Amino acid sequence: MDLYKKVEQFVQESSSKPDRHALRTVFWIKELYSQADKAMLIAAIAHDIQRAFKKDKLDGIRSNKKGFLDEKHIKYHQEKGAEIIGDFLKKQKAEDDLVNKVKMLVSKHEVGGSKEQNILKDADSISFFENNVDYFVEKLSIKVGKKEVRDKFNWMFERITSSKAKEIARVWYEDGMKRLED
Ligand SMILES: [Fe+2]
Ligand SMILES: [Fe+2]
Repeated sequence: MDLYKKVEQFVQESSSKPDRHALRTVFWIKELYSQADKAMLIAAIAHDIQRAFKKDKLDGIRSNKKGFLDEKHIKYHQEKGAEIIGDFLKKQKAEDDLVNKVKMLVSKHEVGGSKEQNILKDADSISFFENNVDYFVEKLSIKVGKKEVRDKFNWMFERITSSKAKEIARVWYEDGMKRLED
């Protein structure tokens, strides 16, 4: 089996339900960047792997006042994910260059930085709005409050670097914000 497929299987098996957000992040990265290489596709499918390994699904959301946007949690989420996927790739005997590039991408997928880190971040945001708005509006806003979810939507939208990605995400973002009006 090819390495990307092995990672996809690892991601899907680690998750309690089929991870559509991850699959669509791969789709959107190809849409935004036709030159995306194997490391970028692996980083895209695995970028949120940390979430599959935590015990409490609300860990980092309710445990602090800043909720979803807590910088410490974001840093932990990115870096722990990079470590988990790096270890998996090493076990598969992947080349060091590939392992290092995947780790570099995952370790900044929330905040971006380099051109390719930004492309992953943008694809992540599009896939988030495409797939997660219903869950955040209908379920999570009841648990954590509408303001918290509005802040998260604004952050996920404003962090997008490319105007093309922003235009793709805009319709889902605006729909979500409208549904959160008081
Ligand atoms: Fe993430
Ligand atoms: Fe994500």
